[in-house]
Amino acid sequence: MKIAILYGTETGNAEMLAEDIAAHLADHEVEVTNLSDFAPDAFDADNFYILVTSTYGDGDLPASAIPFGERMADAQPDLSSITFAVFGMGDSEYPETYNFGGKRLEELMTSAGAQQVGERITHDASGSDMPEDLALPWAEDVVRQMEARREEAA
Ligand SMILES: Cc1cc2nc3c(=O)[nH]c(=O)nc-3n(C[C@H](O)[C@H](O)[C@H](O)COP(=O)(O)O)c2cc1C
Repeated sequence: MKIAILYGTETGNAEMLAEDIAAHLADHEVEVTNLSDFAPDAFDADNFYILVTSTYGDGDLPASAIPFGERMADAQPDLSSITFAVFGMGDSEYPETYNFGGKRLEELMTSAGAQQVGERITHDASGSDMPEDLALPWAEDVVRQMEARREEAA
C-alpha cells in the first residue's frame, strides 16, 4: 500500500510534520506533496491519503492549500474510491475558528464521497503537546486500520 501525505501550510509546521510522519512510516512506500502541487484529478485509489493542514486567516485553509480547496469545490470530483485521514493543526488562541482548516479539508473530501479512516485529530499550538507526539501514534493507527480494510477486501 502506498501512502501519499499531502500537506497544506503557511509557515512550514505542517510540512515539517508531514516529513516526520513520512520518516515514521518509512517501512511503507511514502510520498510527501504540498497541496499547492496537487490537483483533485490526481487522486489514485491505490494510495492511502494522509492530509495534514494548518488553519489561517478567519478559519481558512493555509495559503498552500487554498487553490486545492477551490478546485475541489469547483470540480466536485467523485472520490468514492479514495481513502483518507486528516490531521489538523491550529491554535486555541483562535477559539471561534479552532482547527477549521482540517475540518474544511475533511468536509471537502467527504462531500466528494471519499472514505475517512479514523478520527480527525488536532494539534493545538498553545497546548503542551508537540505535534509529532500526537501525529505519529495516530498515523500508525490509521495505517493499521487501512491495512485491515484492504485485507478484509482482498
Ligand atoms: C495569522 C494567523 C492566523 C491563524 N488563524 C488560525 C485560526 O483561525 N484557527 C486556528 O486554529 N489556528 C490559527 N492559526 C494557528 C496556525 O494554524 C498554527 O500556528 C499552525 O501550527 C501553523 O502551521 P503552518 O506553519 O503549517 O502554517 C493562525 C496563525 C496565524 C499566525
